Amino acid sequence: MDETFNLIDKDIQAYCEQHTSDESEVLYQLYRETNLKTVHPRMLSCKNQGTFLQMVSRMVQPKRILELGTFTGYSTICLAEGLSKDGLIYTIEKDEEREPLIRKYLHLAGIESKTHLLFGRALDIIPHLQETWDLIFIDADKVNYLNYYKLLINHLSEDGMLLADNVLWSGKVVKEVKHNDKDTLALLEFNQYVQADATVKNMILPFRDGMMLVEKKK
Ligand SMILES: C[S@@+](CC[C@H](N)C(=O)[O-])C[C@H]1O[C@@H](n2cnc3c(N)ncnc32)[C@H](O)[C@@H]1O
Repeated sequence: MDETFNLIDKDIQAYCEQHTSDESEVLYQLYRETNLKTVHPRMLSCKNQGTFLQMVSRMVQPKRILELGTFTGYSTICLAEGLSKDGLIYTIEKDEEREPLIRKYLHLAGIESKTHLLFGRALDIIPHLQETWDLIFIDADKVNYLNYYKLLINHLSEDGMLLADNVLWSGKVVKEVKHNDKDTLALLEFNQYVQADATVKNMILPFRDGMMLVEKKK
């Protein structure tokens, strides 16, 4: 069972996982190898979150997806699930050491040719991508969530969806915040900004570490 970041009761979490479809063999092997070979496997999406991303992608049927924070590619493979025939996913990761593992599983998942894997700081790379995004998944450094949002929200398609992970930050957003807790302060600012943005419809889904869902107001 995934023990990371869960804000909900452990028994409820276990029950939810028992009643969520099994992940594919490729995703299962990627999960195992990430746990064996990386220092921070807790950053990985879990089966439930992966299934959620797959379902959102199938609903949106995106032509262009942007992911910030690839890690080992688990969420990349899930997000690509609903890509339209000529669709592409761009995923940005600052740590080049992850490349062999990511590429191995993009290949096994059969999506290598549809994936632009970009290494560097997301803030430096985003301005060079001249695309309109149907699906955006923000899952990189928390201190830049608001910067990412400001850079990207006007490039979200009319029927597109923006997702931002970890917006409840293990519940710290509703506790007293230390003045030097940059991540929590940044997430509070991000959540407040999105809530005040009159151009969008948004909600926080309180599962795992909290997921913000944003779409353009119609
Ligand atoms: C939580 S992990 C991503 C997990 C992945 N999306 C998944 O669900 O399996 C965050 C990743 O963002 C990367 N990252 C952190 N800061 C970044 C930045 N400024 N630009 C690009 N990637 C960054 C980290 O190296 C890490 O691999």
